Amino acid sequence: MNTRELQDEIIRLKKEKDVCILAHAYQSQAIWEVADYVGDSYGLSVEASKAKNQTVIMCGVRFMAETCKMLSPDKRVILSNPMAGCPMADQYGRDDILKLREQYPDYTPVCYINTTAETKTVCDVTVTSSSAVKIIKNMPDKNILFIPDCNLGSWVADQIPDKNFQFVKGGCPTHMAMSVKSAEEAKAQHPDAELLVHPECLAGVTALADYVGSTTGILNYAKNSSAKEFIIGTEASIVEHLQYMCPEKRFYPLSVMCVCHNMKMTTLPDVLGCIQGTAGEEIKMSDELISSARKCIDRMIELGK
Ligand code: 13P
Ligand code: SF4
Repeated sequence: MNTRELQDEIIRLKKEKDVCILAHAYQSQAIWEVADYVGDSYGLSVEASKAKNQTVIMCGVRFMAETCKMLSPDKRVILSNPMAGCPMADQYGRDDILKLREQYPDYTPVCYINTTAETKTVCDVTVTSSSAVKIIKNMPDKNILFIPDCNLGSWVADQIPDKNFQFVKGGCPTHMAMSVKSAEEAKAQHPDAELLVHPECLAGVTALADYVGSTTGILNYAKNSSAKEFIIGTEASIVEHLQYMCPEKRFYPLSVMCVCHNMKMTTLPDVLGCIQGTAGEEIKMSDELISSARKCIDRMIELGK
């Protein structure tokens, strides 16, 4: 089957089988075109809690499918490709957080959504890149232990100077591969371009940016800006999506190194296989794990309203 035939079959079958397809913004253009919703991690969480369909296919990485299952425990949630994980999500486990809680007893642990369900059971609130500033501002707690991304954490902390932050050593290997030097070189090569970056980038890179935000934030900024050229400091797929959305503008990747191979795992045949029951992995979680991990996601949605 070619791309168009696969897409037609997916669209036909998802209606017949009452399936909702959620796709993270880093998925390919071919997957965007068959998805019912495309967005950043926060948007996907909100959408997962609203989906009416009996089956939800999450085209993204494992923690996104776990979040979806926690928010819709009665639904069948399928991770589109079982190999798609997020290396950052595995950096701090439950026991590491328990130790950190002992080390910083006066600090409230706030975890990035890019963590496992197990890790979330011992944190107080989850945040995403697009919601972190608002959520932490809305929390009554003054002392925040931010886990695991120290780059996102320090970007958030700069915007909330009246709170105290502690960070751990963690972050996204894909975004951290973009150096300050490559940002300077890209700006020198494209002097009229605006630099748009994800807050998972190194602090030296975000300091050079015209805009810092989530994947959806970057897409919206580029669409609405009057500038004609942009350097994109996030996963390479966003460059491609922007070229489709705004053919009259020019988009350059900050670095060719910014490819998330986990996000790239999912293919159209995987999506078709998930609907047909021959591919993907159904997410199974005990009721106990769901109820204890879900508390900090519910708090995120509550504080993010
Ligand atoms: P967003 O919430 O911006 O989609 O980020 C998720 C992610 O994994 C970025 O690397
Ligand atoms: Fe994880 Fe980084 Fe890939 Fe996002 S880009 S899913 S944080 S490895």
